[in-house]
Amino acid sequence: MAPSIIFSVLCPLLVLTCGYVQPLEEGFISGVISDKGLEYAKELLIEKGIASILMLQLPEIENSAQVPLVGNAKVVLSNITITDVQVNSSSVKTGENGIVLVVSGAIVNLSMRWRYTVSSWLIPIGISDKGTASVKVTGMQVGLTINLRNEEGSLKLSLLDYGCYVGDMSIKLDGGVSWLYQLLVDAFEGNIASAIEEGISEKIKEGIVKLDNFLESLPKNISLDKTATLNVSFVGNPVLSSSSIAIAINGLFTEKKEVLVPQGYHQKELKVSAACGGLPKMIKVSIHENVFKSASQVYFNAGKMQLIVDQLPGQAILNTAEWRFIVPELYKRYPNDDMQLNISMSSPPVIQVTYQDVGATILVDITIEVLEDVEVIPVASISVEISTSCAVEIVGNGIVGRLTLQEFSTYLKWSKIGKLHMRLIQSLMSSVLRTVVLPYLNFKLKRGFPLPIIDGYGFQNAIILYNHPWIAVCTDVFFLEDYYLGQQSSSA
Ligand SMILES: *[C@@H]1O[C@H](CO)[C@@H](O)[C@H](O)[C@H]1NC(C)=O
Ligand SMILES: *[C@@H]1O[C@H](CO)[C@@H](O)[C@H](O)[C@H]1NC(C)=O
Ligand SMILES: *[C@@H]1O[C@H](CO)[C@@H](O)[C@H](O)[C@H]1NC(C)=O
Ligand SMILES: *[C@@H]1O[C@H](CO)[C@@H](O)[C@H](O)[C@H]1NC(C)=O
Ligand SMILES: *[C@@H]1O[C@H](CO)[C@@H](O)[C@H](O)[C@H]1NC(C)=O
Ligand SMILES: *[C@@H]1O[C@H](CO)[C@@H](O)[C@H](O)[C@H]1NC(C)=O
Repeated sequence: MAPSIIFSVLCPLLVLTCGYVQPLEEGFISGVISDKGLEYAKELLIEKGIASILMLQLPEIENSAQVPLVGNAKVVLSNITITDVQVNSSSVKTGENGIVLVVSGAIVNLSMRWRYTVSSWLIPIGISDKGTASVKVTGMQVGLTINLRNEEGSLKLSLLDYGCYVGDMSIKLDGGVSWLYQLLVDAFEGNIASAIEEGISEKIKEGIVKLDNFLESLPKNISLDKTATLNVSFVGNPVLSSSSIAIAINGLFTEKKEVLVPQGYHQKELKVSAACGGLPKMIKVSIHENVFKSASQVYFNAGKMQLIVDQLPGQAILNTAEWRFIVPELYKRYPNDDMQLNISMSSPPVIQVTYQDVGATILVDITIEVLEDVEVIPVASISVEISTSCAVEIVGNGIVGRLTLQEFSTYLKWSKIGKLHMRLIQSLMSSVLRTVVLPYLNFKLKRGFPLPIIDGYGFQNAIILYNHPWIAVCTDVFFLEDYYLGQQSSSA
């Protein structure tokens, strides 16, 4: 069969199925799979495809023919099994209307059993025989066109077209007689070819259905902890361009208790770019600063941003006696009582992705409380505005941040213990921020923010790009099993 046949079948389809592609709006996390990523995905798909057709048994073929000098021969081919597939070349192309995957010049080996019976008036007893044969197909072509659409927040994969074409075939008979060989070549070649074509086409259909079911089974939200859920619903249709596929998910944090849709987050049209600072990376995941803002809002609303401190690291338990020279009024009113600092955020942290880092401005109220018997008596409250810079890195499959203190300013909100020495307060606050507040926040941030990735795959050689208001992770993807195998063989 002509090698170009597959292209003549697939190409008109690409023109016909003009779907309208919506822009990716209101998606706050986007993923772009570059041509390098597509190549990797293609190799994986082909690997999985080969695994699914290896040892595939094709249906029995039966035929009979009049053989000169021999008589009427009834031949049955059974146990036709694909034993080996080698792919010479393959390609993946994306266009507005679909993804076209083509495998060309594949070599397929098959094994089979044959048996025949001959009856004729010349040989009244009849003769029969059986044996095995192997078949080698060269220049096989397999092609498929698939499309991705958004259906109610899930990705729907549809198979637009597919085909499998057997090129040349050679048959090697183990034993047997020459007329049988001739009969196989003359009468069975076409049957064997179509059995292979149908068998493989069937597997393609099955494979796509499986992949579609898998996509459908992906959750639309990910539970992060007791407080927050990440909305991972797909937004808009995937945008297929000549060298990349872009998808977007909602990406905002939502509160678990109230099933309220977060309001007031908008963005202009998402610019889809696979650029990774000149580096070839498989995927680029971009996260809008609104994602961090929604997280900040959710945790603030849930009251998760509060901390009670009764001891500063490396120092004795807080006690009014220690403060007797600093705040004499306090000691006079509450001699030798333990104290605690009630640190709470007074508004959600303001988070901004700049061109260099992620900046967070945190407003906290630090209330000094005296513990008298069982009573907690607030005695003064100080408001602190903290500017921090957050450096972001990839740890495992999550984004992890680390805050560093840039500057802070304080003012006294109220006091029941007279005027406080602001210089002393400043130095106390500095110590509280450095030894308690930032380490606490960094501990929380260490848990990270999970990047949506399919189970079994990991990120490799990730880099972070800051591009206001987006932060992007450019990374390669690898199959974890390969990684473990690599580790084993390198340590062996
Ligand atoms: C041949 O196929 C039949 C039925 O499909 C099966 O029962 C039998 O075990 C197979 N024989 C071999 C040698 O694979
Ligand atoms: C498939 O056939 C080719 C050529 O006949 C041979 O080199 C190769 O070893 C075969 N593969 C298997 C698994 O038998
Ligand atoms: C594999 O493909 C190359 C070109 O891509 C071609 O030259 C070669 O003959 C092919 N080999 C087989 C066994 O089909
Ligand atoms: C999360 O998804 C589950 C089903 O996948 C659904 O039952 C639940 O209501 C969703 N939660 C939110 C907050 O959307
Ligand atoms: C999740 O995001 C989708 C798409 O933006 C939206 O339609 C849906 O209402 C969101 N769900 C929740 C629980 O916020
Ligand atoms: C800490 O302060 C907040 C308000 O600033 C208050 O609502 C909360 O009850 C206080 N917690 C304790 C344990 O004192």
